[in-house]
This record gives sequence, C-alpha cells and structure tokens, in this order.
Amino acid sequence: FLRERAMILINGRLRGDPLALLHLDEGRIDPYPLYERIRAAGPLTLTRLGVFTTADHAVCDQVLRDRRFGVGGRVVDDTAELSFLEMNPPDHTRLRRFAAPTFGPRAIAGFDGTITAVVRRLLDRLPTGRPFDLVADFAAPMPIAVITELLGIPDADAEEFSRYGTVFGSALGGLQSLRHVGQLMEAKQQLARIFTRLFDLKRAEPGDDVISRLVAAEGDKVRPEEMVPLCTLLLIAGFETTVNLIGNTTLALLKHPEAWHRVAADPDLAAAAIEETLRYDAPVQRTGRGAMEDVEIAGRIVRKGEYVVTLLGGANRDPKVFDRPARFDLDRPNANDHLGFSSGIHYCVGAPLAKLEARIAIQEITQRFGNLAMIKPGVRRPGSLIRGLSSFPVVGYPIL
Ligand code: HEM
Repeated sequence: FLRERAMILINGRLRGDPLALLHLDEGRIDPYPLYERIRAAGPLTLTRLGVFTTADHAVCDQVLRDRRFGVGGRVVDDTAELSFLEMNPPDHTRLRRFAAPTFGPRAIAGFDGTITAVVRRLLDRLPTGRPFDLVADFAAPMPIAVITELLGIPDADAEEFSRYGTVFGSALGGLQSLRHVGQLMEAKQQLARIFTRLFDLKRAEPGDDVISRLVAAEGDKVRPEEMVPLCTLLLIAGFETTVNLIGNTTLALLKHPEAWHRVAADPDLAAAAIEETLRYDAPVQRTGRGAMEDVEIAGRIVRKGEYVVTLLGGANRDPKVFDRPARFDLDRPNANDHLGFSSGIHYCVGAPLAKLEARIAIQEITQRFGNLAMIKPGVRRPGSLIRGLSSFPVVGYPIL
C-alpha cells in the first residue's frame, strides 16, 4: 500500500501533477495556489493520476448531491470501519437516521453549559503571560471531553477512549507510515474491546445516552456487527476536525488582528468567524465519490467505477461564488455557502455540534486573553486532507 502510494506520488511529482503535489509539502503548507491551477484547467479535469478532480463549487456540490455517485463507488460490506460514512443507501439511510437525532440542533441545544464548563476548565489551566500550545493544551482535549460525555462513556473509560480514538482519528488524515498502520490496528482492536464491554454495561443498566439507545435498537435497525463501527465513527469524526476548526479560526483571527479585536469586543461575532473559517481554511480539505454508472457532468463523461476528487477547500475559494475569496472577511454575506461540511447525503451529521463547540471555544478564549500572540511559527500537521497546525505556540494576556 505504501509503495503504491509512493510510486503515484513520485510519478505525479515528476510530471508536476497538481493533485500529486497536494500530497507533498506544497499542498500541506499551502494548497490554495494548487486549487487555483486545478480550477484554471477546467471545472472537471482528468489528472495524470487517472482520477477526475474539481475545485469548482458548482461541480463539487453537484457530484456530492448526485445519487449516481457513491462513496468509493464500491459495494460496501458490513466490515466498513467508519460505518455509514463509508456506506451507500439503503444502509447509509438506515444508520444515519438512527444517529442523526443525537446531533441535531434540538438535541444539542441544552449542551451549551456542558461545553462552556469543559472550555473554562481547560482555560483555567493555561498560564497568563507564559507560553502554551493552543492545540495540545486547549483545542485538542476539548472535543474529546465533549463527545465522551455525549456518548455516555463513563469517566473511568474516557482516558482510554481518548487515547485510542486519537490514533484512529489521526488516520482520517491519511496513514503516514507503517508504524502508523500498526498503531491504527491496535487502536481499532482496543476500541472494539472497550465498546463491547460498554454495550454489556448499558444493556444491564441503560441510561439516557447514545450507547444505551444503540443497544436497545440492536436487531433490525442496527445489526450486531454494525455497532462497533458506528460508535467508532461517532467517537472520532469530531476529534481532529473540531480541533482544527478551533485552531484554524484562532490562526485566521491572529493574522487579522482587527478581526480578533472585533470578536473580543463582541462575542456574538464568534459564529461569523467560525463560518468564515470553514470557508477560508476548512479543516477537511477534500473528499471524493465514485461513479456507480456512467455520468455526464460538466461536459465530460465519468465512467462507472471512475473516481472524482472533490476539493472542498478549493470550492470554498471559487470566485464565481465568493467575492475576493482569498480574503478573510467576518462580514461576508454568503460565507455559509461553503462546502466545509460537504454536501448531499453525507453532509456532516455533527455540524451543529462542531459549530457550537468552536463558537464557545473562540468566545471564551477571546474573552480570557484579549491579547494573544503567536511566539514562533506553528508546525503544520502531516498530510493535506485535514488542514491545521499540530503545534501552535502562543502567549496570552488579559485586556488591561
Ligand atoms: C461527515 C466535516 C465535526 C460526525 C463529515 C463530512 C465532512 C465533515 C466534510 C462528509 C465527508 C464526505 O462527504 O465524504 C466535519 C468538520 C467538523 C466535523 C469540518 C468539525 C469542524 C463532526 C462532529 C461529529 C461529526 C463533531 C459528531 C460526532 C460526522 C459523521 C459523518 C460526518 C457521523 C458521516 C455522515 C454521513 O456519512 O452521512 N464531516 N465534521 N463530524 N461527520 Fe463531520
């Protein structure tokens, strides 16, 4: 697997294929010029790597909504690791219907207090006037604490879940090495073990939480072999993604100090900062779909079995939709036309929760540290699918 990937990259690099360059440092550090190149070549282009790609907003949206495209374009079996994210209807519909209410706006409306408490607890541990890491010390532990609470994972297990979940979540951004593959297998087994134990616990003593609902629904609605992958998906889908939404929003605000000060002065603006970051510097930069039959789209034929890479981060900077797209603008009227949460039937189930978490995190941090500064350049995460900093050294002072 790794050799095949390396060959594709080396070939692509030699031929200057922008899609291959995305996987290398060029794309990791700054993918946006590559998206421009891809868009300039046409709304839907066949790259030298033999896959279609698009950074055009309308075409991305169309592919993601078109039911003739599916995830992977393959028949998905029950062993799918990430449950309905990797399934097509009808299985996708059945499992998503089960999970969606947990994360709907109504379900999470009462969650403000819990999230605020988690955020304040983390902020209280941060030093004033001395360096700390915005990702490791703040953005990363937050979504983990929230989701373990929402799923009803007992405190005693939370540390293990967070450790193995983090390994599994990091694989969303692509496997980096053989060692990483080994760690992923280990994490997968350990998560299955702890979830299975938890199912027994909740069968014996049901509570008012997702896992209890899940064990009650086991049978027709959720098949036994689907239980662990479903829980794994719900546990980890919000790990790396929400962390980087908080990190990328903070970074954008620090690079635009007038925007930082506006949000600090008016916390209601935090929601606009989050929405604009989902457009301007989205945590999930791309996804893709396979054609399940021949499809004519943007003047081309995508044959059954062929794959289209939808560059969400590129679509979000399409000048046909967004005026001066490279500008970070808190007042942008249509920022929420972004594709940062994808589109169509796989549109992110956790979007309302992710936005709520990020909004509270940004409100609280701008209140706590009216002045926050980066003390040296951050380090970009490995891989270019998930975009963000893995190290984000800052120092903060309250407004005097
Ligand atoms: C799907 C992004 C947070 C749960 C997706 C997809 C994207 C995405 C782009 C669709 C992938 C595709 O179309 O192939 C994000 C971002 C987040 C975030 C940027 C944070 C900033 C969360 C959270 C949860 C969550 C907090 C909840 C635990 C899911 C699930 C799916 C999904 C379950 C699968 C939906 C389906 O296949 O029908 N997310 N996500 N996400 N997300 Fe999120």
